[in-house]
Amino acid sequence: MPRPRLVFALALALCLLLPLAIQTGHTEDDDGPQGQDAVLALIAPQPGEVVADLGCGRGAWTFPLARAVGEHGTVYAVDIDADALAIVKARMEKDAVSNVKLQQSVPDDPMLPKNTLDVVFLNDVIDYVKRDALVGFLEGIRVALKERGRLIIRDPNGGPGRVIAECYRAGFSLDEARIPLPDAPGRSFSSSWYALKLRRATHQHAILPRLGEPRRYRTRLHLAEELFRAGVIDRKEVSAIWDATNRLPRDFDPEVDEALDLIAAAEATGTVDKAKAEALRKRVRRKAKR
Ligand SMILES: C[S@@+](CC[C@H](N)C(=O)[O-])C[C@H]1O[C@@H](n2cnc3c(N)ncnc32)[C@H](O)[C@@H]1O
Repeated sequence: MPRPRLVFALALALCLLLPLAIQTGHTEDDDGPQGQDAVLALIAPQPGEVVADLGCGRGAWTFPLARAVGEHGTVYAVDIDADALAIVKARMEKDAVSNVKLQQSVPDDPMLPKNTLDVVFLNDVIDYVKRDALVGFLEGIRVALKERGRLIIRDPNGGPGRVIAECYRAGFSLDEARIPLPDAPGRSFSSSWYALKLRRATHQHAILPRLGEPRRYRTRLHLAEELFRAGVIDRKEVSAIWDATNRLPRDFDPEVDEALDLIAAAEATGTVDKAKAEALRKRVRRKAKR
């Protein structure tokens, strides 16, 4: 592991320098047949599974997904836009597709049945969900998924940092991240596709009491995200940081405990010796008492 201070400086620099992504519109023609295979490999829909194509638009992914889950599976085609759903319905009728269920939703509630879905797929949707609707939107997905169900987010806009943080807060854990996403359509200089595979977090009880108190965990998680994005740590190390953060006691104080963690890391990497580390600990504790 690199030195903590160096790592911290790198992460901070990254936070400040991250380029602003420009919004781009996606059309269903962007992914050719090869792109389609890559997307399906990412989602890995199995015959008989129940999948939601949430924010389905005109159904670019609804029909490939319906073919993949087969006659014993179901695809919920969900969108807030009634006109888009009408296009999906017309295509269902034309092609006699019987394993797709249409659902018109509202911005802060995907209106999916609870505890029934193996997969929720969002393709080029999350960045369109308004900030004030996002908490309800993600909570609706979380409760719709089965215990080991997966949420796949594939998006060209805005970058994954905020999305990962919001999903974490909503009670998901990150299983896999592809940043940037290979095989994505190269439409414009401003789009940078990424894909995330998330699951319902098993330690929800540890996360919920912390909602409304982001200061408690924000520093660590953002740092982990930035380091991951910079390729300094791998996915397993991100998961370990997140898991450790979930286990933090209620009285965790970022100003004291994160300082102590940094000192421990500095000692472990030989940046400071034992005596110096002990002196630093004393200083932090003295300051905390004041
Ligand atoms: C850029 S289109 C992508 C459509 C489709 N997923 C695709 O890949 O072709 C974004 C879609 O998300 C839908 N959308 C935006 N906010 C939504 C929300 N809160 N809930 C459900 N759908 C939403 C829009 O109506 C639109 O159809």
